[in-house]
Amino acid sequence: MIISSATDFREAARRKLPPFLFHYLDGGAGAEQTLRSNVDDLQAVRLRQRVLRGSEQLDLGVDWFGEHYALPMALAPIGLAGMYARRGEVQAVRAACRQGIPFIQSTVSVCPLAEVAAQASKPIWFQLYVLKDRAFMRDVMRRAWELGSRTLVFTVDMPVPGNRYRDAHSGMSGANGPLRRVLQAMLHPRWAWDVGVHGRPHDLGNITAYRGHATGLTDYIGWLGANFDPEIAWKDLQWIRDEWQGKMIIKGILDPDDARDALAFGADGIVVSNHGGRQLDGTLSSARVLPAIAQQVKGKLAIFADGGVRTGTDVFRMLALGADGVLLGRAFIYALAHGGQAGVERLLAIMEKDLRTNMVLTGVKSVREIGPHLLAE
Ligand code: GLV
Repeated sequence: MIISSATDFREAARRKLPPFLFHYLDGGAGAEQTLRSNVDDLQAVRLRQRVLRGSEQLDLGVDWFGEHYALPMALAPIGLAGMYARRGEVQAVRAACRQGIPFIQSTVSVCPLAEVAAQASKPIWFQLYVLKDRAFMRDVMRRAWELGSRTLVFTVDMPVPGNRYRDAHSGMSGANGPLRRVLQAMLHPRWAWDVGVHGRPHDLGNITAYRGHATGLTDYIGWLGANFDPEIAWKDLQWIRDEWQGKMIIKGILDPDDARDALAFGADGIVVSNHGGRQLDGTLSSARVLPAIAQQVKGKLAIFADGGVRTGTDVFRMLALGADGVLLGRAFIYALAHGGQAGVERLLAIMEKDLRTNMVLTGVKSVREIGPHLLAE
């Protein structure tokens, strides 16, 4: 099939993946209103076309936390990425390093930190959840630090998992889930061969490294479910600050007051995010809240944003709304599922080309110049 955008990668992934995995990735919480508004509100952002101001010398680079990156993007932390392509996190980190952008490894990755870090030419960023088992948190932070990670992305919008109705229909959860997942795998032989046969072990590598035994994905997901901490509060974050000597980005900020609190806490960055519409259905899209958050904290900490980004134009839009950088979530997993490392590299190249074209068409020479003055209304 012809691939020219993330939409094509999504369709290719839909064909290749067993439905329980496709829908786990593609779906959101509740009636998926927030999931849809992330995409719709971002696409509704109108840009100013400016003429006779273009340049061939475009600077797409950014400096974050003392490192230079080639594009204002990063690969978002996505749990279970290794179920979407053989050793998926390893393939993704190679693609990110090849394109010169940060790779953020999820706590609940299939590949353990050590396996991924061994393939990275730049230190990976590490994402951590709030978990009741503080010994696990301490252990995994120590591992990440020893492997060279200096940027911790701390997720705060998942004190409890969101209600994802699609998972019950798709076989991801529910009484007949295990049987349905096996049947689906048999009906998707390309995935079964790539991941089912050659992508083992299928566990959560960082948790195996801590608990010392592999007992299967279901057991891990049970452990994780029992470990979310709904009582986490700002005061508990101080504990992490004391344990972690590097930079700290707080992921899951959607309200200007919380952005101010993150700044007061001393965060080095925030990710404006509603977790891809997977948590509080009915809340606002990232695109809608970003300008008000930028008004509070722009220039005082790094502002990243995610939610609905599918094209280089969407990256441009997020920057115009006030972000310093953009995280790619679903878009890169669609590409990974279809084409592994090469798929992700291809997606990033497509998005880079979009971004370059838009910079010429809006008369911008550096991505750092992109801001609200380029919004049409
Ligand atoms: C995990 O972060 C998820 O959204 O499923």
